[in-house]
Amino acid sequence: MLEVLCVTGGSRLSGNIQVSGAKNSALPLLIASILTSEECVLKNVPDLEDITVLLRLLRCVGAESSFEANTVRIRTARVKGTEAPYGSVKALRASFWVLGPLLARAGQARVSLPGGDAIGSRPVDLHLKGLAKLGADIRLKHGVVFAQAPGGLHGGEIVLDFPSVGATHHLLMTAALIDEETIIRGAAREPEIVDLAAMLEKMGVSIEGAGSEVIRLHGASELGGAQHAVLGDRIEAATYLIAGAATQGQVTVEGLSPGALDSTLGVLEEAGSTVLRQENAICVACRSRLAGVNFDTRPYPGVATDVQPLLMAALTRACGTSVIHEGIFESRFGHVAEYRRFCADISVDGRTATVHGVEQLSAAPVEALDIRAAAGAVIMGLMAEGTTQMSEIYHLDRGYDRLVEKLRCLGARICRIPSVEEREVVLGC
Ligand code: UD1
Repeated sequence: MLEVLCVTGGSRLSGNIQVSGAKNSALPLLIASILTSEECVLKNVPDLEDITVLLRLLRCVGAESSFEANTVRIRTARVKGTEAPYGSVKALRASFWVLGPLLARAGQARVSLPGGDAIGSRPVDLHLKGLAKLGADIRLKHGVVFAQAPGGLHGGEIVLDFPSVGATHHLLMTAALIDEETIIRGAAREPEIVDLAAMLEKMGVSIEGAGSEVIRLHGASELGGAQHAVLGDRIEAATYLIAGAATQGQVTVEGLSPGALDSTLGVLEEAGSTVLRQENAICVACRSRLAGVNFDTRPYPGVATDVQPLLMAALTRACGTSVIHEGIFESRFGHVAEYRRFCADISVDGRTATVHGVEQLSAAPVEALDIRAAAGAVIMGLMAEGTTQMSEIYHLDRGYDRLVEKLRCLGARICRIPSVEEREVVLGC
């Protein structure tokens, strides 16, 4: 059923939330499962549309899986297909990362190029150069990457010019099935990389340096199955904490180490929130309007680009001006046009946005543009006067497990209703 989200502003969020498993960790962990013919069991997998899309693709290449109570059991006894067509890569960018694992396991693979999207051109040159260093013969034709390794892949030294999260995941997984040493320099350091390395170690890979700029690994020509629990979602956690601070409330998230969000918590503190860091929980409280604050997005451990639309939303009602520099994606300010519908005062110059905080926002009809832009618009709706209606909310289902339920637990007035088109059909108009 086509639905819209209704958010009525004015409630201070307060309470505790258990974070779900990280989408950006679960995706590579599921892809890593196709490196072995044995069963892998992943726990704490979030129930998201992106996970469903990936499981469907993995089924096409030969994986048999079940997904119940946040546990995925998956086994690819034999690779039956070595192709990821345009539809699956378009629906989910991370699908592209099956290229290397399929190549390593089956000697060849064909995967559509993901192409650009609303937040930037998002090339895959680093992925392809890295695979070539491991011995892959790569050809591009009709928008499809054909990769072959007739003589088998070999270990090598890869230097990433930028710490791409996707390229690091992709190359780690590929090198895992090579019984030689591979070194990745300039690697991404995100907690999700450390989580993937932990699962690969359980499968039989020897890895040093995950979480640092240099990762050394020695793979194996055959890997075993593994059981692994997906780490907590730091971006989901940030969403509820920022929503709490923006509504002058107090929110605690459980199931995540505070270190994973240190830079974001630093920005919230600078903006006047009180942050309590516990071993596996974070509490953010804010009793008055936030103060304006400047920040840049950077590779981990900097402020994550995925948090930028969320922090920006909160700062539209701050006392004072905030200057935000987007250091990862060249055009990740698409949400600004939607935020302006709430009467937010934001100007954009290239990769820099200046937000002049306003005293009052007013609810408006808005459209969800991508996962985090949609979550940012929810935060806007929670602060605004009146009821906001958001369309295209499938983006939220791609990245947030039970968002409405969790926000209602915190006291938000939020619900999903059939869209006007759907209501007209029901009423026979
Ligand atoms: C991952 C995350 C996404 C997050 C992003 C940055 C997943 C499923 N997605 O995306 O939520 O916003 O990291 O933290 O984990 N680049 C190149 N060439 C390449 C690869 C990347 O130039 O071959 C550039 C990109 O255009 C971008 C930057 O590197 O400007 C970062 O991209 P990358 O870290 O690869 O992001 P993703 O892995 O796609």
